[in-house]
Amino acid sequence: MTVAVLVEGLTVEFGSFRAIDDLSLAVDYGEVRAVIGPNGAGKTTLLDVISGVSRAKSGRVLFDEKIDLTRASEAAIARSGVRRKFQKPSVFEALSVRDNVEIGLGGARGADAGDRVAAMLETVGLADDADRLAGDLAHGQKQWLEIAMVVVSEPKVLMLDEPVAGLTDEETERTSALVRRLRTPGRAIVVVEHDMNFVETIADRVTVLHEGRTLFEGSMARARADARVVDVYLGR
Ligand SMILES: Nc1ncnc2c1ncn2[C@@H]1O[C@H](COP(=O)(O)OP(=O)(O)OP(=O)(O)O)[C@@H](O)[C@H]1O
Ligand SMILES: [Mg+2]
Repeated sequence: MTVAVLVEGLTVEFGSFRAIDDLSLAVDYGEVRAVIGPNGAGKTTLLDVISGVSRAKSGRVLFDEKIDLTRASEAAIARSGVRRKFQKPSVFEALSVRDNVEIGLGGARGADAGDRVAAMLETVGLADDADRLAGDLAHGQKQWLEIAMVVVSEPKVLMLDEPVAGLTDEETERTSALVRRLRTPGRAIVVVEHDMNFVETIADRVTVLHEGRTLFEGSMARARADARVVDVYLGR
């Protein structure tokens, strides 16, 4: 199986503070990987480096076994099919739901753009809300809209930072079903989340980060049984 994202010896520093410390990690195509761990562990920073928002001090991030993302611009990374939903929803509130998804198509807009947008709205459960203003959506619906804006471009690597933060239990369950629908053989999905019940329903494997390093990698069930993971994170 091809590795979608290969992180090798990655170190990220902010001044003298080391947020990511010689981290190595491989995410396969077809896999949903959850990255979990306490506040400040470096989860968002990892997504920032993969998406070109933050720069590495050393190490590399190979996409598709050939492109070093630590040397590419944020725009080039997005164009190459590595896309990310940020922690805070950022939809265009004054535009319709449909127009928001169309913006997500970006340069990939072709003759079938309308069909792709409609299919995407169907997938995230917002087909009946297509003509509403994005600003009028409920918080959960905004999260789904933002996922639609990212997924409509058919990314090969999809990263979601805290997709169920602030969602109701029912919205969380719908998001879980959505993530499982988005899992395809040609796509790697990386999810950062603090909701362990949600993580258990979506993740093939979890990586537990602690102080910028991998503390544990394996199934969520094994993570729950790991004394070190319980000590630094799950037991708190
Ligand atoms: N731009 C920055 N400048 C300085 N320090 C930063 C910067 N970004 C992150 N940090 C620090 O790096 C550490 C890791 O932050 P990060 O946002 O990656 O944590 P996280 O695992 O996503 O936490 P949370 O679960 O709270 O979202 C934290 O101590 C944070 O304060
Ligand atoms: Mg974070």
